[in-house]
Parts: sequence; structure tokens; C-alpha cells
Amino acid sequence: MTNLRLTKQLADLPEPLDEFADPVQEAVNAVPQPVRDVLDGVWLGNPLHPALTDVPIGAWSAAFALDLAGSTAADDALAVGILGAVPTALTGLNDWSHLKDDSRRIGTVHALLNTMSLALNVASLVARKDGHRSLGRVLSGVAYAGTLFSAHLGGHLSFGLGVRVNRTAFESPRDRYAPVCDESDLNGGKLVGVELESESVVVSRSEESGEVCAIAATCSHLGGPLHQGERDGDVVTCPWHGSRFDLCTGEVRGGPAVYPQPRYEARVRAGKVEIRAAKDSKD
Ligand code: FES
Repeated sequence: MTNLRLTKQLADLPEPLDEFADPVQEAVNAVPQPVRDVLDGVWLGNPLHPALTDVPIGAWSAAFALDLAGSTAADDALAVGILGAVPTALTGLNDWSHLKDDSRRIGTVHALLNTMSLALNVASLVARKDGHRSLGRVLSGVAYAGTLFSAHLGGHLSFGLGVRVNRTAFESPRDRYAPVCDESDLNGGKLVGVELESESVVVSRSEESGEVCAIAATCSHLGGPLHQGERDGDVVTCPWHGSRFDLCTGEVRGGPAVYPQPRYEARVRAGKVEIRAAKDSKD
């Protein structure tokens, strides 16, 4: 069975999974935003969950190898993986709370498999401490197989479905100014959505400095339309999951987005707003 067929079948899993997912997502979305920003990795400037997954996967890989070598150090590696799995699961749950449709279902299977693997590894550690080393090895071996398949699903979520990939990563800079709207369109603090060579841009006038500002309109989190967002001073809130960005610099003011919006240079000529990609936009 090809990977594509398998993941399609997982995405077609039955509705009870959705019924289970709705209230869980609702509960996670009620967690205070500052806590969620920490879990998202806003402070790090990169998604936190993928980085943390290295700890349990690495530790459990070491445990598997040490078990094969007959070393009791496998127990310590198993324990490190269990400890590392807790923050990893919390950040994963936070990431998953924004998903829907296929990616949500595959994410649900990913989470259930990880939970099962964690429970088996805990049971394995208990069995080892009680002197049942063979049983412990079997339990952690099964858990390791589940972890590997789940890691594969996590990779598919990122690379196949684009979860937590910077949605502005492929915008190409344009170095010459092009007219995009009338200056008068910005009156009244309006956010104006325009297209520049098939890239969506949101143009506005700063309430603080009065300058004309422009940033990419496709939210770096999951692609929400920022020109339809709500404005508060010089900050726009994404209408999809509430990330907040500075309308002039593109900097992240609040998660779940962790990547800033590309910025454009803007000027006014003969009543027309002209923009071009800022040279430092992708630094
Ligand atoms: S798409 Fe998720 S916050 Fe914008």
C-alpha cells in the first residue's frame, strides 16, 4: 500500500473521531493565549513541537538499541523518553487544535498512537522495575513500532499537508515598484487587500506614523486572509486563529503564528500607492 493511499484511508476514518475531536479542540482553544504562545514557540521564532519530538524519539531509539545489546541502561533511556513525551504531547495537542478536515483526522490518529506508545513505555518501565525484563522489552518494542509509524504520520502532516510550514515561504521578491491601489482607498483606517504578481498583500496607513505600510496578506500560520482581519491600531488579527501581526513590520505580536509576515516597501506617486518587496523581508 502506498503512503498516499494509506494516509488517504486514515483521513477517511469514521465520524466518531470527529465527535471526539470537536470538544477536545474547544477545550484547548480555551487555554489562555500567553500559555498557547509558549506552546506554539512564538518566543523561539519556530514551531516548538517538531523540535521537542527529537527527545522521546531519540531516547526510545536508544532504549531499543540498548535492549538489543542487552544493556540495562535501556531503562534510563526509556525514562528520559517518557519525561520528554509530556511537553512534546502538550505542544502537539496545541498545534492540532487549529487543524480541520484531513489534517485533523491524521493528527488525531498520530496523537492516539503516541498516547498508546507512551502508556506501553510506562508499563514497560514498571515491568522492568518489577523484574519482568522480557515482558518490559516486548512492551517497549511494540511501543517503538507505534512511535515510528506515528512519526511518519507527523512527517506527512508537515511535508504532505503543510501543517506549520510558513505559508509565505515561497513568495518571491519583486524589486521594482508597482501601483496597487489609490491612496484614498486607505482612508478611515481601512485594510486594503491587493495582488502583486499573484501574491496577496494587505496595505494600510499607520495610525502611529501616518506612513503607508504593506505586508503579505497570507497568514504565515495556515494561510488566513489578513486583509479580512480586525485592526487594532497598527496590529491586525488573523480571522482564522487569531495570530496578530504588526501591519508595518510584519512582526508576530501573538501566536499561533511563529513566522513574521514578509514586508513590502510602499510609496505614494500621483495619488497611487506603489509597493515592492522589502530587501530585508526574508532575513
Ligand atoms: S491562519 Fe491561523 S492564525 Fe492565521
